Amino acid sequence: MKVFNFGSINIDKVYRVPHLVQPGETLSSRTLETVLGGKGANQSVALARAEIDVRHIGRIGEADQWAAEQMQAAGVDMQGVEQVEGPSGHAIIQVDDEGENSIILHGGANQSFDRQVLEQQLSEARPGDWVLMQNECNGIAEVFDIARQRQLSIAFNPAPMTDAVRQLPLAHCDVLIVNETEASALAQSGDADAALAILAERYPDTRLVLTLGARGAMLQYAGEQLREAAVAVDVVDTTGAGDTFVGYFLAGLLQGLTDRDALQRACRAAALSVTVAGATPSIPTLADVDSTQDD
Ligand code: RIB
Repeated sequence: MKVFNFGSINIDKVYRVPHLVQPGETLSSRTLETVLGGKGANQSVALARAEIDVRHIGRIGEADQWAAEQMQAAGVDMQGVEQVEGPSGHAIIQVDDEGENSIILHGGANQSFDRQVLEQQLSEARPGDWVLMQNECNGIAEVFDIARQRQLSIAFNPAPMTDAVRQLPLAHCDVLIVNETEASALAQSGDADAALAILAERYPDTRLVLTLGARGAMLQYAGEQLREAAVAVDVVDTTGAGDTFVGYFLAGLLQGLTDRDALQRACRAAALSVTVAGATPSIPTLADVDSTQDD
């Protein structure tokens, strides 16, 4: 079984700042680092580090071969990644002294897909394989359609949330992973528990996972609700923690873990990721995650 992850590849420009810049303020950063990121690339790397066979479907600017090489070195199958003219997607990321971030995205190559390319990239996917998506590329609706035609299982992480997500056939998701902002927007309810209940009624066949940051995560499926507390750690940088969670949660399911165990392992992986700076550089290996099991 293979995961075809259709997702963004970003060049992350990470600025360490004493606080997130305010409207009208000019603020000097202490440091600037350029690292591999993008919710898609991060989730592919998380899946690969969790020892899942993952093929990334994406695009990157010709000047950024180094980013593709880093994904490959992490164990991601890069046959679905094309190098194209023009800029890669990139992200301007501020990280403050508490490890919180704010992110500006430029889509670049992540916004250059058409149906023909996507059909071709998914032509080797077989019934029972998985397709994973986030919301930083164009063509998400097309991939939903192709996935259903090819009888693929669908996992979706609608991040960042946009109005267009509401038009997608979300009832066809086997796994839907949302944070509180995304859950509220989809359910039109500000309360996390209420939002989860609304989504569970709307999508009864979907494993719903709600990430709660420092409060852990919840799962609702087949009439059962699970809650998992976050692991307390010293936060350096939260960038990529959600992506680490998504990759490890899906990996757990595919590796036959129970929902409870997959949720627990994903929370431990996400906790490890916030102790290290950067998006993909912070994603732990399975051995690292397993070594925290009895802590
Ligand atoms: O989820 C973190 C990611 O969001 C960063 O790597 C950045 O590229 C943005 O896509």
